[in-house]
Amino acid sequence: MTHRIKIAAGNWKMNGKRSDLVGVAKIEVEAQFNPEIQTVLCLPSTLLDRARNLKMNTGGQDCHVASSGAHTGDISADMLADAGASFVILGHSERRTDYKEADATIHDKVIAAWKAGLTVILCIGETRSDYEAKQTLNVLRRQLTHSLPKGANTRNTVIAYEPIWAIGTGRTPTHEEIQHTHGEIRNILGAHFTQGRSFSILYGGSVSPQNAKQIFRLNDVDGGLIGGASLDAEAFSQIIRDLTASVGELA
Ligand code: PGA
Repeated sequence: MTHRIKIAAGNWKMNGKRSDLVGVAKIEVEAQFNPEIQTVLCLPSTLLDRARNLKMNTGGQDCHVASSGAHTGDISADMLADAGASFVILGHSERRTDYKEADATIHDKVIAAWKAGLTVILCIGETRSDYEAKQTLNVLRRQLTHSLPKGANTRNTVIAYEPIWAIGTGRTPTHEEIQHTHGEIRNILGAHFTQGRSFSILYGGSVSPQNAKQIFRLNDVDGGLIGGASLDAEAFSQIIRDLTASVGELA
């Protein structure tokens, strides 16, 4: 079996000014000392160029399907790459909700990102009502099969499973539920893509220094997509340390 890459990815969302990059130095230290894992900070586009010298990967949080053109207010994958990004988050639930992004659009954005040489962090996740109606796996299967193009492989794509009801709420599924869902995502990927079972699958939604260690110990969890806690350099550094420790335990 291919070695699955462990990833700690921060998502700053619409937060962060130039002065906030100063605090990132602490995170950098953790990122440098841990060669077993990859660390990514998905920043607002305004900070990407400034973050070029960071000793970790940076990423954007969305991109347009076109590489340039008359699309006021948008940013292309090429432009993100030009500003130093090597990753991009696509299909985040906030984009799906705020901008009614459909799986078909996300599919085309993924292709645009790959063309620009970016690794895609593709977000999938169910709403609270999907969860309560026990529709989680159906929703995830639909999102994966409709938004992930043929050609996805372990180098160009990372999956982030983020239950929408867990994002920013302090609530998470149980460990058993997270492991079960990640295992099922791996099965779905394995059925549709040659390297499907070896994709890195991150958990996202209220990951914090209080719960990261236990979540990262789960067999089919390969790291986390971290929103709120990634804005606090000490908290994010602790989460990176927890991920590193889990690699030692699982080896
Ligand atoms: P959160 O956000 O860690 O603040 O819940 C995660 C995300 O939306 O990527």
